[in-house]
Amino acid sequence: MPLVPPYIAALRPYEAGRSSEEVRREFGLARVIKLASNENPLGASPRALERLRDSAGALNLYPNGGLDLRRELARQYDVRVENVIAGSGSEGIMSNIIRAFLCDEDETLTTESAFIGFQTLAKSRGVAYRTVPYKDWHYDLEALAGQINERTKIIYRANPNNPTGTIFTKIEFDHFYAHVPERVLIILDEAYCEYAKDDPRYPDSMHYRYDNVITLRTFSKVYGLAGVRIGYGFAHQELIANLLKVKLPFEPSTLAQEAGIGALADKEFLHRSLELNARGIRYLTESLRGLGFEVPPSDANFVMLPLASEQEAARVTENLLCKGIIVRRLTAFGLPHAIRVSTGTDEENRLFVEALSGGI
Ligand SMILES: Cc1ncc(COP(=O)(O)O)c(C=O)c1O
Repeated sequence: MPLVPPYIAALRPYEAGRSSEEVRREFGLARVIKLASNENPLGASPRALERLRDSAGALNLYPNGGLDLRRELARQYDVRVENVIAGSGSEGIMSNIIRAFLCDEDETLTTESAFIGFQTLAKSRGVAYRTVPYKDWHYDLEALAGQINERTKIIYRANPNNPTGTIFTKIEFDHFYAHVPERVLIILDEAYCEYAKDDPRYPDSMHYRYDNVITLRTFSKVYGLAGVRIGYGFAHQELIANLLKVKLPFEPSTLAQEAGIGALADKEFLHRSLELNARGIRYLTESLRGLGFEVPPSDANFVMLPLASEQEAARVTENLLCKGIIVRRLTAFGLPHAIRVSTGTDEENRLFVEALSGGI
């Protein structure tokens, strides 16, 4: 009997990518621009920070398992607290979903090169992990529906999707949903929903609730709280009740919960972040297409650039790094010939395009 099961031995630890400070030191640069992790270039929500500071006095006490944040989310979304869960990032909740619902003989189903967090979590459970290819960089929902079998337990879809930035519509979802048996759980990952919600084609899953769909959201992106680790989810109360059984009792931390509550109230920061991102996506998409790159339409806070080859992706990434610009290679996702670029400030976006057009 091996100490480590083969499906764990086959995994690779998550590589967070290089920090700005590391790159600055290595290349002796005065300034580094990080466009690699879909973070908010404006920093964190000021109201979240305020609330976080105010909660410091209670750090000797255990937190209440996210109850205050769950109540606030229930109030804002007009659902019951029993329909809401909070956790250490949406990935923390995803991890609990894997733990709570998968049996050894079950299978998971998603798209090729899906969000790396889901890939790793599903594979770490040792169950079959099945995928279908993208269709024009979008989820191929018809193909996905066609692959459902009697063992399929969890279907994962991100809308908008990471790493492509593309979305599927309500009509596409409805067609797909008609093929999904009730015993199958759909994880609808809406980490980037705030960026997409003004697109009339984008379906906000809070407007179409189904008993076997769990919606996951996060404060890591538009609220700028990636370092705090706070996310949330909505689902039927039975699903939530089972997730509450397996989650760590004191997750999320007091600071994370308080930051989340503060962020929800920060409409001004939300607005400013969305405006900046919309400008950034427009600018990056148009400029990069103008330079001859293929850029799938993005409703998120990043764009993906499929390049000619893996070597080309390595070369472009390395050359940008020398100029102090960090972008994300997508090898770990399963797309070695592609890179992903997050939106930065207007100036950062401009410097990135200039660096790329300057003969990289
Ligand atoms: C699709 C998707 N889901 C979830 C996450 C993780 O969010 P969190 O920081 O809340 O764990 C990310 C982060 O990059 C993501 O791209």
